[in-house]
Amino acid sequence: MSAGDSTIRDAQLAPAGRQKIAWVREHMPVLAELQNELGNEQPFADLRVGICLHLEAKTAYLAQTLAQLGAQVAITGSNPLSTQDDVAAALAQSGVTVHSWHGATPEEYDDFVRRVAEFRPHLIIDDGGDLVSLMHERGESLLEDVIGGAEETTTGLLRLRAMHRAAELQFPMMAVNDALCKYLFDNRYGTGQSVWDGILRTTNLVIAGKEVVVAGYGWCGKGVALRAHGLGARVTVTEVDPVAANEALMDGCEVTTMDEAARSGEIFITTTGCRDVIARRHFARMRDGAILANAGHFNVEIDVQGLQDMSEESREARPGVTEYRRPDGGRIYLLGEGRLVNLACADGHPAEIMDMSFALQILALKYLAENPDLAPGVHPVGDDLDRAVAAIRLRALGVDIDRLSTDQQDYLQSWRM
Ligand code: ADE
Repeated sequence: MSAGDSTIRDAQLAPAGRQKIAWVREHMPVLAELQNELGNEQPFADLRVGICLHLEAKTAYLAQTLAQLGAQVAITGSNPLSTQDDVAAALAQSGVTVHSWHGATPEEYDDFVRRVAEFRPHLIIDDGGDLVSLMHERGESLLEDVIGGAEETTTGLLRLRAMHRAAELQFPMMAVNDALCKYLFDNRYGTGQSVWDGILRTTNLVIAGKEVVVAGYGWCGKGVALRAHGLGARVTVTEVDPVAANEALMDGCEVTTMDEAARSGEIFITTTGCRDVIARRHFARMRDGAILANAGHFNVEIDVQGLQDMSEESREARPGVTEYRRPDGGRIYLLGEGRLVNLACADGHPAEIMDMSFALQILALKYLAENPDLAPGVHPVGDDLDRAVAAIRLRALGVDIDRLSTDQQDYLQSWRM
C-alpha cells in the first residue's frame, strides 16, 4: 500500500504503532533532552536524512526526533523480518517517508533500500551497511549530495572498512558502533537481554539447567552469556580468538570447539558476525530437540540452507520456530529463520539502551553537518559525544557523580614522585 510517498503494509495499523512509539518515548530521556537542547538550533534544517535501521518503535522515535530537529527523513528497515508494520504505519502518518514492510522478499527489500537511496540523502544512518553499499553500487549520481553517515553495527563497520581499504568509500562514515556509550551498553546489555527476550517468547521453555552454547565472545556474546548465567544455564563458549576465549574461561564459561559443543548443547546462539559458524557437520551430531538462534546481523551464521537440505521434512512448530527432522529422526528447532532473533522474534533492545545508541547517532550526524569537509573513510565518534550522552543520561536518572578537585587534577597531570 502506498500512503502519500510511503510504501507500507497497512495504514490502518497506525493506532497500534502510535501506542508503541508513545511507550518508548517515555523511556528515552536522552533523545527528549536532545530535542530540548537542539530544538531552537534546528541542526538538520534543509537536510535530507536517509535511514536504514530495524524499523520498530525506538527507531521511529529517532526518525521523529530528527524530523523535529529540522530534517526531512526517509527510512527503510535493515532486515526483512524486523520491520513492525504498525510502527511503519504510524511513522508514515507522522510525516516521515517510510518504505518497508515485515516479511519483505529479497527483491522488495532491495527496492525499499533503493527508494531511500533515491531520496538523495545528505546524511545517512545505516545498520549493517546495506544503504551505503547500494548507494555506491548505483553510481555517482546518488552520491552527489551526501555529506556523510553513521553506522550502527559491528558488521556494518566491517563492510565499510573493507570498502575503504578497496578505496571505494566515497564519503565519511562515523563509527557509532565503536563509541563507548554504544557497545558497552547496546552490544552487551541490549543484546544480552533482547536475545533472551526473543528465545523466551518463541519457545516458552525453561533455561535453568540447560547447556547454552554461545558462539563468539565479543560484546554481544558476553552479554548473552552473562544473562544465560543469570537464567541458570550452563554456558559453553566457542571462539577463534585466544584472548576472548580466556575471558570466557575467567567469566566462568566452558570453552571448546563447535565440533565438540554441537554434541551436548541444548540451545545455540551465534554472535560472531561470520558465516557458517554452525554448519552441516554440526547439525548432524546435535541431540534431538536442539534449539538454534542467531544474534548476528546477517542470516549467514547458521547454514540454514544446509539444514534444510539434510532434513527429511520441516514444519512450523510454533510461530517463529521451524522444526527440521533429520533422516535419523533427530529434530532441530530454528528460531526466526536464522535471522536476528532479538528483532525477528521480539522488539529489539530495550528503549533505555537504544536511547543512548540513537543519541550518538544524532550527535554524529550533527558533527557531520558541522564538518562537511571530512575525508572519506571511517571516523571515530569523539570522546566528547560519548561523555555528553553519558552525562545527559545520568542527569535524567537523577544520578550525581564526584568531580575531581584541582589538586586531584594536578596530581593526575604530574610525573614527579
Ligand atoms: N532497535 C533498532 N535498532 C536496533 C538494533 N540495531 N539492535 C537492536 N534493537 C534495535
